[in-house]
Amino acid sequence: MTIQQVGVIGAGTMGNGIAQVCAAAGLSVTLVDISAEALDRAMSTMAGSLDRLVRKDQLSENQKQETLARVRTTTAMADLTEADLVIEAATEVLHIKEAIIRQVDEVVRPDAIIATNTSSISITRIASVSSRPERCIGMHFFNPVPVMLLVELIAGLQTSEQTRAAASEFVGRINKTAVSVRNSPGFAVNRILVPMINEAIFVLQEGIASAEDIDLGMRLGCNHPIGPLALADLIGLDTLLQVMEVFHTGFGDSKYRPAPLLREMVEAGYLGRKAGRGFYPYSG
Ligand code: 3HC
Repeated sequence: MTIQQVGVIGAGTMGNGIAQVCAAAGLSVTLVDISAEALDRAMSTMAGSLDRLVRKDQLSENQKQETLARVRTTTAMADLTEADLVIEAATEVLHIKEAIIRQVDEVVRPDAIIATNTSSISITRIASVSSRPERCIGMHFFNPVPVMLLVELIAGLQTSEQTRAAASEFVGRINKTAVSVRNSPGFAVNRILVPMINEAIFVLQEGIASAEDIDLGMRLGCNHPIGPLALADLIGLDTLLQVMEVFHTGFGDSKYRPAPLLREMVEAGYLGRKAGRGFYPYSG
């Protein structure tokens, strides 16, 4: 099966990035969100991201316009009937994802693939609410999607080899590299990355080093492109807390307890870049 038409559900940070890279690879994209304002914001974010490439002469103004024209926005799930692949990139809450998968299942063709960009929830569980669990797969992108080259492909217990192969071919077509992972809380990359960030928050909370020094230490000492606290702000502290909760319940091991400071920052609404404040202040 060759994927030509892609549906993306959720116009937030991940959804608009996924829509952009699919459109940039020449695919037709239908971006769905319940909020028309979120769809408008997504289109301007994509335009801004493509503008960076125009400024660097890696894309012409014409190509930018053509890419944007391949993205159709809608608030109606029913507009996904032609999709070969639907990628769910909505809020990281199980019942919301399950409700979306049920709706998608009703509107798309029986042979369409349903993927979820969940960062930690069980693919087996999400697939179980679909009438085609063998055609469901985890397709985990990384933030910022236009820049990060990896996509983790996660097979649930029901995922067929045919679905995994089609998803892998698709990832190559959008110029990303796939790694195959078995379903497990947080899969492979977040299982390693998120506890490291959580530990950095403990180090800050215990007064062992300042936020700036923790980040400088990991940048200069370990060659990370940005420090763990700046990365926390990029990912979103609410997402990180959610992922740590999934590890904590999923493995039942206290080593995955979320740092109390992380919880408190989320309670305060200091969610990182998207909120204008996280471990660092942001403007604009
Ligand atoms: N769209 C297009 N291009 C972008 C972009 C965007 N949204 N954001 C950054 N870029 C480009 C810039 O134009 C620049 O390109 P150039 O090198 O050709 O000039 C390049 O990326 C570097 O950007 P900046 O100079 O603005 O800033 P940095 O050098 O700090 O790089 C970064 C930004 C690429 C985000 C870098 O800091 C980085 O790699 N950080 C780590 C990101 C990371 O670890 N992501 C994974 C998060 S985990 C995750 O997503 C999983 C989830 O489930 C939790």
